[in-house]
Amino acid sequence: MPSALTYFPPMGVYETLFKFLDATGQYMGTDGTHPWAQGFPLTSQLPGGPEMPTSISFSHSDLKYPQATGGIELLTALRDYYNHFYGADVSTDNIAVFAGGRPGIYATLAFLKPEYHVLIEETEYTPYWDALKILKRQHKIVPSNPDNGFRPSLADYQAAAQQDKSFVVKSNPCNPTGVTWQGDTLHQMVDWCSEEGRGGLIDEAYEFFQTGEPDSAMRHVKDIDQTNLFVVSAATKGLQAPGLRVGWVVASKANIELFRNFSSIAMGGVARPSQICTSLLLELDRAQHARKSVGEFYGSQRARYRQALEDLGFDLFTGDGGFYHWGRLPGGLTADDFNERLFAHHAAILPGTLCDMFRRGADSPLAKFVRFSFGPLTADTFDDDIKILRQALS
Ligand SMILES: Cc1ncc(COP(=O)(O)O)c(C=O)c1O
Repeated sequence: MPSALTYFPPMGVYETLFKFLDATGQYMGTDGTHPWAQGFPLTSQLPGGPEMPTSISFSHSDLKYPQATGGIELLTALRDYYNHFYGADVSTDNIAVFAGGRPGIYATLAFLKPEYHVLIEETEYTPYWDALKILKRQHKIVPSNPDNGFRPSLADYQAAAQQDKSFVVKSNPCNPTGVTWQGDTLHQMVDWCSEEGRGGLIDEAYEFFQTGEPDSAMRHVKDIDQTNLFVVSAATKGLQAPGLRVGWVVASKANIELFRNFSSIAMGGVARPSQICTSLLLELDRAQHARKSVGEFYGSQRARYRQALEDLGFDLFTGDGGFYHWGRLPGGLTADDFNERLFAHHAAILPGTLCDMFRRGADSPLAKFVRFSFGPLTADTFDDDIKILRQALS
C-alpha cells in the first residue's frame, strides 16, 4: 500500500548514522564507537563542573497537563537567567518552552509570514535546510565558503536582503564552523534584525561553548516586544541534557502568544519532569558554574584537537565557539571517502556537504570539508582519536 503521506528523508546527520550502522553493525555513540559525526555533549560531570542530576522529585499534580508555553518554575528560571547574565528585561510572557531546540525553530519557520525571505548562510546547521524545504520557505543564501573563510559580515546579509522583508536564521556560535558573533558585531546584527520589516532567529544552542565570557543576542536587544527577534536555546548542549528534550524561544509577547496557541492545538506543552529538572539546572549559581566549566573544558579540547588536526594536514577554519572543528581534508580526499576509511575503525565524521545550504552534493565546494565533533569526547580519548585519524589519512 503506498503511503498516504508525502515522503521526506531524515535530516542529513542521520544519513551518516545509517551508513555507519550498515558498515559497522553498530549504532554510532554506543561503546567502542568514535562518534565524531554527532552533536551531543558529554552528559557526565565535566572536570571542575557542577554535578549532573540523576533523579528528580515530582508530585501527582505534575502528572496533569502542563501549561501550554511552559510551567512557571521554568519560565521564571529562564527569565532570571537572561536578566541576570545579559541584563535583559524580559518577563515570563516573553518565553515559550518546547520539546528541544528544533521544535522551537520549526514552529517559528512554520508561522513566518510568506513575504519574509529567510537569509541563511551557505554553511549552516543541517536541518535548517530540511525545514526550509519542507515548509517551502523562500530564502536567500549569504556566502559562507572558503573564499570568505566562512566568516560572512553584516554587509553580506545586507547585500542579500535588498528591499525584501527579511528574516535572518543563524546559529551563533555556528554549527558547523564555530564562528561566533559577539560584542559589537552581534550588537549590530541584533539592531539590524530589530528594524521594521526585518526579524531574525538567533539559535544559541552553543551559547556556553564560547571563548571567554559567553555573549547572547539577549544582551543587545533593547525592547524585545518591539522586534521580530526569536532567541532560541535548549537544555541540549550547555546544560548537557539532550535527553530532557527541553528548548525555548525568547520573543515578543505577541509572538509568544502564537506559540501558546500553537501548543494548545498541536503540542500540549512539554513534559513536567523535564521542565522541573531544567529549572534546577538553570539555578543562577549552578548556571554560572556550568558556563565556566563548559567553556573551559571544551575550550581546552578545541585547542588540543586544533593543534593535532593541523599537524595532520587539515586546513581548519574553526572559529572560537561550539564543539566542532571545521576544515578541509588533506590530500584532496573527499569526506565520503574519508568516512569509508573511518568506518573500519568504528569512527565517522560529518561530511561537509550536509552543511551546504545549496545541497550541491559531490559538486559542493564543501565536499572535501568535514565537521569533526569533540562534543561527546572525554579528555582521555585524545591519543586514540589522533591515532585513528592518522591511520585513516595514510
Ligand atoms: C545549531 C543547533 N541548534 C539547535 C540544536 C537543537 O537541538 P535539540 O533539538 O536536540 O534541542 C542543535 C543540536 O544539534 C544545534 O546544533
